[in-house]
Amino acid sequence: MKVVTTIDEVRAVRRRQGTATLGFVPTMGYLHEGHLDLVRRARAENDYVAVSIYVNPKQFGPTEDLSRYPRDLERDLSLLRAEGVALVFAPSDAEMYPPGYQTRVLVTGVTQPLEGAKRPTHFEGVTTVVAKLFNIVRPNRAYFGQKDAQQTVVVRQMARDLNLDLDIVVCPTTREPDGLAMSSRNKYLTAEQRPAATVLYRALRAAEALWRGGTRDGAVLRDAMRRVLDAEPLARVDYVSAADPLTLEEWEGDARAGAGALLSLAVFMGPTRLIDNVLLNDRPADE
Ligand code: PAJ
Repeated sequence: MKVVTTIDEVRAVRRRQGTATLGFVPTMGYLHEGHLDLVRRARAENDYVAVSIYVNPKQFGPTEDLSRYPRDLERDLSLLRAEGVALVFAPSDAEMYPPGYQTRVLVTGVTQPLEGAKRPTHFEGVTTVVAKLFNIVRPNRAYFGQKDAQQTVVVRQMARDLNLDLDIVVCPTTREPDGLAMSSRNKYLTAEQRPAATVLYRALRAAEALWRGGTRDGAVLRDAMRRVLDAEPLARVDYVSAADPLTLEEWEGDARAGAGALLSLAVFMGPTRLIDNVLLNDRPADE
């Protein structure tokens, strides 16, 4: 496994790979099984896998957790080595945003609701760094987790609008045995908050059960999630949503038939903000 910090080195490795296919997993490090599942999928579908580890300052708001975002490069590298990764790109801020850097990539519509409404500059930071990483690494396929549902919609939109020549592959959310979605931020949870954090998935499952029973009213689905969350004293709701999975428009009243639904929520456990979602389709209840 080659570990490099400069763009020139990535380009040199990529040249040596010739026409072999490359799968790419962009990350901010502090890797867990969710990241590793993306790596395994990439490994299965490509000749080589590249992973980037870069805590991108542009996607953190001024009051967010950039300075305390967890990091452990040595541990990350040993996990990736065990997965047969060919290339790790771990650049510095100066390599990614050198003095005189002036360009931002901005997706408009689908960045506005949900996470975008709560974190106004977040997705601009994500699309800017992801566009740069795609141009540096030049993968055939890039792998993203359903865990960050809106991020997958935004990145797909960017790839389509900018005619990027690669496939975006979205992989299912990896969960702890009790249902908590794996996240680097779970490390912030106290011993008391950790069991309470299962409330996110429990809320999603409650609304999912209504959906399976035939409920298609967005307000009813949102109420069901909110009721479960409100019963957990350690949780403070940031938002709950039942939206169109492609446009991310909130459903008011009855949902369109056949569209499926994205149930998503953001919850504070103390100072730690957790997100989760489930994607529902329109299959009947018994499937
Ligand atoms: P990060 O939070 O490190 O996540 C890297 C990738 O892992 C993302 O595609 C994310 O959705 C996926 N992931 C995280 N937890 C997961 C889980 N429990 N199950 C499945 N996939 C999971 O997302 C980012 O970094 C950044 O925004 C990035 C795309 C790297 C741009 O800076």
